Amino acid sequence: MSHTDDPLAPKPVAEGSVLLEARGIRKSFGANEVLRGIDLDLRRGQVVVLIGPSGSGKTTVLRSLNGLETPDAGTVAVDGGPTIDFASGVTKGDRAALRDRSAMVFQHHNLFPHKTVLENVIEGPVRVQKVAKAQAVAEGIALLERVGLAEKQDAYPHELSGGQQQRVGIVRALALKPDLLLFDEPTSALDPELVGEVLKVIKELAEEGWTMVLVSHELAFARQAADIVLFMDHGAIIEQGHPSQIFTAPREERTKRFLDRILRPLD
Ligand SMILES: Nc1ncnc2c1ncn2[C@@H]1O[C@H](COP(=O)(O)OP(=O)(O)OP(=O)(O)O)[C@@H](O)[C@H]1O
Ligand SMILES: [Mg+2]
Repeated sequence: MSHTDDPLAPKPVAEGSVLLEARGIRKSFGANEVLRGIDLDLRRGQVVVLIGPSGSGKTTVLRSLNGLETPDAGTVAVDGGPTIDFASGVTKGDRAALRDRSAMVFQHHNLFPHKTVLENVIEGPVRVQKVAKAQAVAEGIALLERVGLAEKQDAYPHELSGGQQQRVGIVRALALKPDLLLFDEPTSALDPELVGEVLKVIKELAEEGWTMVLVSHELAFARQAADIVLFMDHGAIIEQGHPSQIFTAPREERTKRFLDRILRPLD
């Protein structure tokens, strides 16, 4: 049975080419060692969900992959390109290479409040990527149609619900045509009844074959969409595996304790 028939069936592991290979990523803020040697392999089409306690370094991992944060040590190679070695100094070009490959969707949508939905969507392509405006508009409208927001293209962010704003945030990331989508708790700031519409869009993107790394504690979603779940604690990946294994038979005591706290917060 394919995953479209049974929503809880695991997705077949994507067998795409290697998109990103990170090794030994380390980062400290002052005396606070936040990442203690993170290894990550991403193949095209793979969906990786990162879980772990607050402060364990999840956001810092995403920011490092996106070039927003510069690790102190470790290497990243993207899509057969040159290996960036953080310990030996990172050039502007290295940072740009990382930034251009990925697009990040944040917990809060971060839309420009004084721009319309469509203006928000075409901002990156037109201003940063120098795409012709007519082309960016046509592509932006097509993307908004895909997430059911075409009729909102001239609305301002404050005229949208939180779920609609977050869907615009996703479209804004897609408009950059990245190789890699990074989501940092994309639904955790939403009212519960709006979570589903955003997760549905992300799940569709996963099924379409987008490569993505998500920080999310929506375990039902992770079960359905993730190829691999990584559990992080204190700046290290403690355990990784298929969601059916991690969620039902975690090997590590720390993973068990963490999942227990999420699943049974009042115990
Ligand atoms: N710019 C910064 N300057 C100083 N410390 C930082 C900075 N960014 C993150 N940290 C620290 O790094 C650690 C990891 O933070 P990070 O945001 O990556 O955790 P997280 O796992 O995403 O947590 P949460 O689940 O709360 O979002 C924390 O101790 C945090 O205080
Ligand atoms: Mg975080």
